[in-house]
Amino acid sequence: MCGIIGYIGKQPATPIIMDGLKRMEYRGYDSAGLAIIQSDSIACHKKEGKLGNLQAELAKYDLVGSVGIGHTRWATHGKPSDVNAHPHNDCREEIYLIHNGIIENYHDIKTALSAKGHTFYSATDTEVLVHLIEEHHKTLPFEEAFITALNEVVGTYGVVAISSKEPNKMMAARLGSPMILGIIGDGEYIVASDVAAIMKHTREVVYLNDGEVCVLTEGGYEIKDLKAQAVQHTIQQVDWDFTQAQKQGYPHFMLKEIHEQPDVLMNALRGRVKQEEGLAHMRGFLEQAERLQDTKRVIIVAMGTALYAGQVGEYMIEEYAGIPVEVESAAEFRYRKPVIDEHTTVIAISQSGETADLIAAVKESKLKGALVLGLVNVVGSTIAREVHAGAYCHAGPEIGVASTKAFMAQLTMLALVTLHLGRQRGMSVVMGQRIAKELLAMPEKIKQIFAQEKAIAKLAKEYSQYHDFFFLGRKYNYAIAYEGALKLKEVSYLHAEGYGAGDLKHGPIALIDEQFPSVVIVPQDSVYEKVLSNLQEIKARSGRVLAIATEGDTHVADIADDVIYIPKTLEMLTPLLAVVPLQLFAYYVADTLGRDIDQPRNLAKSVTVE
Ligand code: M6R
Repeated sequence: MCGIIGYIGKQPATPIIMDGLKRMEYRGYDSAGLAIIQSDSIACHKKEGKLGNLQAELAKYDLVGSVGIGHTRWATHGKPSDVNAHPHNDCREEIYLIHNGIIENYHDIKTALSAKGHTFYSATDTEVLVHLIEEHHKTLPFEEAFITALNEVVGTYGVVAISSKEPNKMMAARLGSPMILGIIGDGEYIVASDVAAIMKHTREVVYLNDGEVCVLTEGGYEIKDLKAQAVQHTIQQVDWDFTQAQKQGYPHFMLKEIHEQPDVLMNALRGRVKQEEGLAHMRGFLEQAERLQDTKRVIIVAMGTALYAGQVGEYMIEEYAGIPVEVESAAEFRYRKPVIDEHTTVIAISQSGETADLIAAVKESKLKGALVLGLVNVVGSTIAREVHAGAYCHAGPEIGVASTKAFMAQLTMLALVTLHLGRQRGMSVVMGQRIAKELLAMPEKIKQIFAQEKAIAKLAKEYSQYHDFFFLGRKYNYAIAYEGALKLKEVSYLHAEGYGAGDLKHGPIALIDEQFPSVVIVPQDSVYEKVLSNLQEIKARSGRVLAIATEGDTHVADIADDVIYIPKTLEMLTPLLAVVPLQLFAYYVADTLGRDIDQPRNLAKSVTVE
């Protein structure tokens, strides 16, 4: 979602800010802007659309100044436009501010400020915050005005503000939206909502916590709480390899990330899986080992693709560890009254670690006494820091908006959690060894699927003529059907529905005709015959079928119109293979249709608002 960057130092601010915005482009946005402090005023430029539009606008000006802020906006309140883009300013054009999050009481504040003579120019909730600071700045210094205003807003924010009246100061704060301080050197700092914008300049960072304010001047930085009391923080080193955040010859990040999956899987296993002992060593869980051993029930919470990984995890954990598992969308979980006690373990799964609904679910679970574990990709993210214990997915930076390699890492982590919990309970050493052995064989098996890539691309081209699709699967591949459909709709904008293959005849089958194809996941597992019957039902109604089947299964080839093969593996691990052709299929359909694959319309990489 929105990307935020602020720079204060001695170098020209504009190129640093534009470079930072470029590095956050992958998050998804619809407009961009920046504001730079000039000698006694602030120059601000904003443009709807991609960063290139802003860059072209900036070429007309000679922007000097070494203090500035920049923003990429993903519209919530007010449509994408130049005027609604950030930064926003007060009536006197003295204060400029960028904001990520939602000011929920913006309407009340706007009404009160309008009565005091403030005039508003945009449809955003953000604009009220800058006027509120302005109102307090009439009687208070900038820093106090900023903190006072934040105490009056309800909602979430990652916010950075500058004032031409105090040109050597920058204020930043967070509440429910990420904000990271990068320390470049004495008196030279970057604040940003994403480490990707900071990495080029420094690896020394401070992660602000909710309710904290950062005061930056050329003389140093201070972190305070919302009562203006000083807060101590330790500086951390970020060790992500951001060379990975380059396309490295691939036309899109999505394709590159699909191809990285054998390595991603290995990275998740490294140091954790012990084949001879049939064990998974989860060092990140050690501090909570006793409580985990004592767990009577697991609830997995996540959103989107991570939720589908959780559904696969549910089947794995119940079958092999014998613990009851529920999986729930964090957006639902946070607003109902889930029954949780100290014997419940909540597992939060997230690529970004910044998903707003999931953060709320984690906090609620902690409050109710559950043990909360995280399976998170982004190191140092809010969820990674909020949970009692956790294990990083080690997928590396995922740039494509459509999650692929992070999903593979999540499935792998869930298989490891299953092995860990299972071996603590009834799972035999032999079974543990089989799972471990098969997990270690997975990278090579994924590579075998890549050998069919040309054929998959050809099929995708043919299928791109259709407008509607079913994705069907059962048992372990039930959730993979949903994930396959999600991938296709995200990047191709075609209509795709995931369904349990057994659910089809309870209504959806009415839609099947020769113009409505189905992608059916039918590996040779315990429900093979059942799915085969479901496939026959589609064929009997003239529906075209693309089957994802086990290598050597000639029977499926006789019934389905087209087949993509995956290698044989343990039933619980078939999702790790079945998802790969679906990712490639979605990619090549979208490519055929000329879509903006890495930044699909309307989508954001990290959903930091409700
Ligand atoms: O960062 P998270 O894993 O918490 O994100 C959850 C979803 O927003 C995410 O998986 C989304 O569904 C992706 N666009 C799927 O490709």
